[in-house]
Amino acid sequence: MAAVGDAGVIGTVELVWRSRLDRTAEIGFVFNPDHGGRGLATEAAAALVNWGFTEFGLHRIYGRCHGRNAASARLMARLGMRREAHHVASYLFAGEWADQLVFAILADEWRSRPVAG
Ligand SMILES: CC(C)(COP(=O)(O)OP(=O)(O)OC[C@H]1O[C@@H](n2cnc3c(N)ncnc32)[C@H](O)[C@@H]1OP(=O)(O)O)[C@@H](O)C(=O)NCCC(=O)NCCS
Repeated sequence: MAAVGDAGVIGTVELVWRSRLDRTAEIGFVFNPDHGGRGLATEAAAALVNWGFTEFGLHRIYGRCHGRNAASARLMARLGMRREAHHVASYLFAGEWADQLVFAILADEWRSRPVAG
């Protein structure tokens, strides 16, 4: 799913099936920093999470990011995702061992989350 504004495509969010049996998908997002800091990525990601749970009957959605990717971690926390893991030096990133954070949310948790406003 691409987020489109007056300036054209400003970012993308994706939901990838990881297990049909477990009804689990992984969310990912990339936004142009020129359009960051306004909640647009959060809004787009929330719409996709909602779509996954309501239209596709998903049970669990998770997301992963680099251990130093604070903006991504904050975004997933804002969605109500729980930080479930911090894998230390678990993968190679730009030639160096990097930590990886894993966030997740279940369908029941999404449905019962407090809605702002
Ligand atoms: C991850 C990424 C999309 C986050 O971008 P972002 O600009 O922080 O996200 P948003 O557009 O949702 O904006 C949220 C920020 O706007 C602020 N904000 C302002 N108005 C807001 C509103 N109405 N609603 C929500 N947030 C708002 C939030 O407080 C937040 O700032 P903070 O993180 O400093 O607290 C971006 O950093 C990115 O593309 N990174 C590179 C790709 C990447 O790392 N992807 C993840 C790998 S899995």
